[in-house]
Amino acid sequence: MKKLNVAIIGTGFMGRAHSNAWSQLGKFFSIPFEICLKCVAGRDENKTREFAKRWGYEEYTTDWHTLLGRYDVDIICILTPAAEHKEMAIAAMRAGKHVVCEKPCALTWQECEEMAQEARKAGVVTYLNHNYRRVPAVALAKKMIEEGRLGTIYHWKGAYLQEWAIDANIPFKWQFDKEIAGGGTIYDLSSHAVDLARFLVGEPKFVMAMTKTFITERPNRKSNIATHLPQSNTEDDKKMIPVTVDDASFMILEFENGALGNIDSTRFATGRKNCNTFEVYGSKGALCFNFERMNELEFYDNSVPSCGNGYKKILVTGAGYPYSGAWWPAGHSIGYEHPFVHAFYDFVKAIENHSTVTPNFEDGVKIIKVLQAAQKSDKEKRCVSLEEKI
Ligand SMILES: NC(=O)c1ccc[n+]([C@@H]2O[C@H](COP(=O)([O-])OP(=O)(O)OC[C@H]3O[C@@H](n4cnc5c(N)ncnc54)[C@H](O)[C@@H]3O)[C@@H](O)[C@H]2O)c1
Repeated sequence: MKKLNVAIIGTGFMGRAHSNAWSQLGKFFSIPFEICLKCVAGRDENKTREFAKRWGYEEYTTDWHTLLGRYDVDIICILTPAAEHKEMAIAAMRAGKHVVCEKPCALTWQECEEMAQEARKAGVVTYLNHNYRRVPAVALAKKMIEEGRLGTIYHWKGAYLQEWAIDANIPFKWQFDKEIAGGGTIYDLSSHAVDLARFLVGEPKFVMAMTKTFITERPNRKSNIATHLPQSNTEDDKKMIPVTVDDASFMILEFENGALGNIDSTRFATGRKNCNTFEVYGSKGALCFNFERMNELEFYDNSVPSCGNGYKKILVTGAGYPYSGAWWPAGHSIGYEHPFVHAFYDFVKAIENHSTVTPNFEDGVKIIKVLQAAQKSDKEKRCVSLEEKI
């Protein structure tokens, strides 16, 4: 069986999530490749060596550039903050590697466009990891919408609510730095919500947004990974660093197909951990999803009069639903890590078939354009058309 050699750049949260998914893929899904965890690139030698050992990588490096010239690396996964995505992705594609890239795609839609152009030129497969599309309940929602079960869609109500930044003592980290992250909740959370809205409803046409930074400076600490910031010692620990991103953003959208929608994202929703939700309302029915109960999808069938009293809960597990049959029998729930495996399954199928997978860098252009339109709307306090210069 042909080998597919995977290398990753980044040993943080996503480094773990991707490594886990690559190890699971061939065990649960039939693929015509043997997946080999070839090399991990990190910055700190001890940490990267330890990571390679723990996750089963054959090798490690502290310079990601060394991956480019290697004939025995087929796929490079870019699992670093957004500011690094463009350079790494373009270099990887020029070296003929297939690329998996974490969201948000890049800092600006123009950077995404450069990445998309390079992908077209290089003829490699690219995948932008908006993993929530491949939650079985979300994939089922897509199928039901395509089958016409919702009829004409009138409303998208999306929200991505977290609480982790409420404490003013939480130290400054790259997620609070616009130059590294691109934005706060708009880039971090609404990028996922915009991806889901485009996936299930269609392309946004107009955007209005309001954002807020509640805590405008944060204490410096040793946990800083932002290289351009001073690394702390005892004195530096007392320093405060300005926050340059939003803590919360509320967005209103009009879609090209006439539907109206909203996306609320915040890191200040007390009690909410990873509450990524949507509701879609159509003439024939409606769907509700909450990632904190990711194995369930609620459906209201307006075409059945007896259904008029409430939503039906569909337990999206086991055979018969997208992806879930590969795992466990019905009622045996899956979790956060599984949609990553689903995405890599579709990604390697695209490599096998010389086809494409979505979302990819082309989608990245459209998503980041919406996010930048939201930032512009917030700044200029007006409705922004996606057709104007952003
Ligand atoms: N798909 C999702 O749901 C999801 C969830 C969390 C984060 N993300 C995205 O994943 C990316 C990484 O986020 P994270 O939470 O894993 O961050 P993290 O801080 O946990 O890890 C980032 C890693 O990148 C490494 N890194 C940075 N520059 C590097 C370089 N030049 N060479 C080698 N390593 C380098 C850091 O050392 C660190 O190990 C971001 O774009 C983030 O938005 C996606």
